[in-house]
Amino acid sequence: MNSERLYLRQNIQVEPLIDHWYAWAHLISPATAARNFTERHMKIMNSYVSNPQIHVNAVKNPKMQGGPFIALEGRVDEVRALRDRTKTSRAHLFELSAAIGELDNMIRTSAKGYSLHPLYPRVPDILRGYVELCYDLNHQPSFRLIEPLLYKSRYYDPSMQSLMLSTIQSDDRPFVLSTPRFEDDSSLHLRIPFNNPVVDELFRLKSSPACEGQIKEMLGLSGSQTELLESFLTPEPPRPYVPYEGPGVRWRYFGHACILIESQGVSMLFDPVLSYTYEGGISRYTYIDLPDSIDYVLITHNHQDHVLFETLLQIRHKVKNIVVPRSGGGQLQDPSLKLVLQQCGFRNVIEATEMEDFTAGKVQITGLPFFGEHADLDIRSKMAWLVRIGPRAMIFAADSCNIEPRLYEHIHREMGDVDALFLGMECDGAPLTWLYGPLITTRTERAMDDSRRLSGSNFEQGRSIIELFKCKEVYVYAMGQEPWLNYITSIKYTAESRPIVESDNLLKWSHERGITAERLFGEKEILIEHPSLAIAG
Ligand SMILES: [Fe+2]
Ligand SMILES: [Fe+2]
Repeated sequence: MNSERLYLRQNIQVEPLIDHWYAWAHLISPATAARNFTERHMKIMNSYVSNPQIHVNAVKNPKMQGGPFIALEGRVDEVRALRDRTKTSRAHLFELSAAIGELDNMIRTSAKGYSLHPLYPRVPDILRGYVELCYDLNHQPSFRLIEPLLYKSRYYDPSMQSLMLSTIQSDDRPFVLSTPRFEDDSSLHLRIPFNNPVVDELFRLKSSPACEGQIKEMLGLSGSQTELLESFLTPEPPRPYVPYEGPGVRWRYFGHACILIESQGVSMLFDPVLSYTYEGGISRYTYIDLPDSIDYVLITHNHQDHVLFETLLQIRHKVKNIVVPRSGGGQLQDPSLKLVLQQCGFRNVIEATEMEDFTAGKVQITGLPFFGEHADLDIRSKMAWLVRIGPRAMIFAADSCNIEPRLYEHIHREMGDVDALFLGMECDGAPLTWLYGPLITTRTERAMDDSRRLSGSNFEQGRSIIELFKCKEVYVYAMGQEPWLNYITSIKYTAESRPIVESDNLLKWSHERGITAERLFGEKEILIEHPSLAIAG
């Protein structure tokens, strides 16, 4: 047997799938998954099967990017087969989705401010014991799901999860959330659930080699699959990573909202979204630019461009702790991020609450309230992060929308001035139903939908934060512009797009006041040295 030790190549793309659909958080938590199966996937597949040409045309139209269209030509038979298979093999999820609709309807028509106790027997049978009925103080009825129990039920089935491996050579990658992924001659479909330790062993192969025989055995491969696997392996070791051990703070921008900070022996990675390593395209940091061990991964909010399983699963073996905003109140639209990540094999998931801080050596991290950008839905799984390292303070606000400047006045009173602000300015966000439509069981009027958007801060909203905190540096980020991220952000701005115009205004306004300001794109490294940051001894 060949005893040569081999690595997984750095340009092997790994798509995490759930029943052939690209995995994102709402496909993991059982109730949101059921709703997305019936209200998103089935609708898209039905439309494609009945008129594939509409999809072919829409996918070619840049204005339709990110819409509910399948980016496949001539694959009607496969889509039809998946649709029919889904209907039979996932019938229980269809029942769950329908039950959620019935429950919504029942409480809307029957809960009129009087005791909810008589309504429990009228909860759809399969949901009984999994929901508590409640009112808000205006006597508006609602329900909360007991999520930990739903994960233990038949409605959570890890055998639906798989990984699709293929070679990636360029940034050109179609939008993934609307198109089911099928096997082809160049892809290796590994039917292993996300929490399987084999996932860690597989991705460790990027930096620690193993014999081919061991790898095949670990993945349980045979026949033609083994030949394909061989093409994914290489004897060539990756360039070793040199951690920052200097006397200051080094941060590196990896694209979108993904930033790595190394300081005082502590490493922190925000909203991991990484590019693979291949020739061509603009310069960037990739997986090979990560430390062997990451002390803290910090997540700002539960949108698919900030909680990206494709990246998270590949770095899981390096992550010591993952910090998420606390949710889990059982609202359908706000699944617990902690539970989602635990189901996906993350062990040390820390939930942070607003204005709570924790320390890691000389680093102090505080969770800050994050308003807006969620179409006014009651969603708690969102948090900005204030990081204080010695005398330096930085806020990573991601898509926070400053709809209420008084919030930042209160925060400023507690926390004082901040040196650097990282702010997303996608101020032309998608409407409510683009993301949350499958969870809504009544009709949403068009005007209502248009008025409630997933929008980040505009110029005025950004400017007021900078003035209040007397920021000396401002970095506009999380704009989804990196060409290798189109598959998940579907964003192609022009100079006239509002997020560009508004952020240009913010940069100009900042420059006029002597504030360092930049819209991050591609890659960036900043080194901050200060005598008080020198590591003792
Ligand atoms: Fe967002
Ligand atoms: Fe975002």
